Amino acid sequence: RKPVSLPRLAHMRAQGEKIAMLTAYDATFAAVADAAGVDCILVGDSLGMVCQGRHSTVGVSLEDMVYHTASVARGLHRSQGTTWLVADMPYGSYAESAEQAMRNACLLMQAGAHMVKLEGGGWTARTVEFLVARGVPVCAHLGLTPQTVYALGGYRVQGRDEAAAQLLRQQSLELQSAGATMLVLEMVPEQLASRITQELAHCHTIGIGAGNGTAGQVLVLHDMLGMNLGKMPKFVHNFMADAGSIQGAMQAYVQAVKAGTFPDNRVHAW
Ligand code: KIV
Ligand code: NA
Repeated sequence: RKPVSLPRLAHMRAQGEKIAMLTAYDATFAAVADAAGVDCILVGDSLGMVCQGRHSTVGVSLEDMVYHTASVARGLHRSQGTTWLVADMPYGSYAESAEQAMRNACLLMQAGAHMVKLEGGGWTARTVEFLVARGVPVCAHLGLTPQTVYALGGYRVQGRDEAAAQLLRQQSLELQSAGATMLVLEMVPEQLASRITQELAHCHTIGIGAGNGTAGQVLVLHDMLGMNLGKMPKFVHNFMADAGSIQGAMQAYVQAVKAGTFPDNRVHAW
């Protein structure tokens, strides 16, 4: 397989091929995900929950993210992986200024990331523009943004009423204009996620709990393997249940995303 790159992702989008993303936090899982044909690995700050046992992502540090990103990057390097590697910028590592964001994004890129992800809309556009102008590819993240869970009032569906939906569409367009080439849409109604996807030609939407109309899908690795310390989110499917191995479960996920059978919009949409 050719290495996944920004042109390759744009080509997939143009061909109508869905992008399959999974999280991974260590070398071995990263190598297995790569072998399973996953297009993108996200070193998510969800590691705060699945690796560190926290209740939110707020406690995850930049040092934690650098450590796990470097581990995943080494796993991909050892297995001559071709997967696109996205790393989350953690809480407090980019809100202060565009300069602070750039400084911290560099540490993730030097750890082996190909792209950094940051949460939020509006004020983030200037930061995204600052990073992209300096050669750092950026993935944005709107809808349920777990780093601001306390401001949002809980882990719940976003963009439900007309005003909130309008704002999400506007922020998505601003982020694309700022140069974001990927956008995670988390827990937003399927119709809204589909509409945003159609409105963004150069920025590929990756949905989680956002229905079937996005350019790609992402799941937390442990969730899709049926391992979860808390409550399993409704939009998750356990791909391990019918698979003989972890690589098999990941392959089934990739296949289901590409075939458009996951998510099943009768079951997983709001
Ligand atoms: O941290 C994470 O795993 C994420 C995905 C759920 C999109 O941000
Ligand atoms: Na995250």
